[in-house]
Amino acid sequence: MRLDKFICKSTELTRTEAKSLLKSGKVRVNGEISKSAAMQVHENNEITVEGQNLTARQSRYIMLHKPLDTICSNVDEGYPSLFHLIDVDKAFDMHVAGRLDADTTGLVLITDDGRWSHNIISPKKQCEKVYRVWLRDNVKPDSAEKFKIGVQLQGEKSLTLPAKLQVVSEKEVLLTITEGKYHQVKRMFAAIGNKVVGLHREQIGGVKLAELSLGEWRYLTEEEVSEFC
Ligand code: URA
Repeated sequence: MRLDKFICKSTELTRTEAKSLLKSGKVRVNGEISKSAAMQVHENNEITVEGQNLTARQSRYIMLHKPLDTICSNVDEGYPSLFHLIDVDKAFDMHVAGRLDADTTGLVLITDDGRWSHNIISPKKQCEKVYRVWLRDNVKPDSAEKFKIGVQLQGEKSLTLPAKLQVVSEKEVLLTITEGKYHQVKRMFAAIGNKVVGLHREQIGGVKLAELSLGEWRYLTEEEVSEFC
C-alpha cells in the first residue's frame, strides 16, 4: 500500500497530515528517510516516525443495509453519505465495494482494503450481484432469454454479459449480474422496454444481506471476508 495510507492506518493522522509528516523528513522506511507519499510499502517493511515503529491497524470489512436517499460516496452531495451511519474510527477513510444509487436499498460492502474490493468490483472477476427488482410493467416471457444473450445499453460498445432472470411475480424479479456499469439494472430494463420502479441488492458473491434493519451495519465474519480474498 502507499506510504501515506500506511501512516493513516497506523496513526490518528489524516491523509493530508500524513503527507506533511512525510515532507518533514521524520519518516524512515527500513532506515532510509522517505518523503514520497506514493512509495509502495508492505507489512514487513520497518516504518518509523522519529524512531517509533508504526504498525498498521487491521483492515476492516463491514456490511450495511443501505437506506433510501443516502449515497455511497464518502462526500455528502445532494443526499447524506452512508458513512455517517457507521460509528467506527475514521469511517470516511473507507470505501464502498460496488456503489448503489441513492434510490436503491440493500447490501453494501465497505472496507479500507483496496485489494479486497478490487476482487468484487473488477469486471474480470465476474463477481455475481443479486438484485430484487420491482417493475412498472409485467415482465415479458422473452426477458430472461434476452438477458441471457446480453442487451445493448445506450452508449456502450458491447452487449451486457449474460445475466440470470428469475421471475417472482408479474412485476417482481431477481436479476443476477456480474458487471457493475453505471445504473446497470435500470438501463438493462430500459433496453427491453420496461422500467425499474424499485431496486434492492440482496447478495454479493456468497455474502447475503443479513437480518439488518435499514441503516444497520455489522462487521463481516472471517468466512465472509475470505469469499473475496
Ligand atoms: N443498477 C442500478 O441501476 N442501480 C443500482 O443502484 C445498482 C445497480
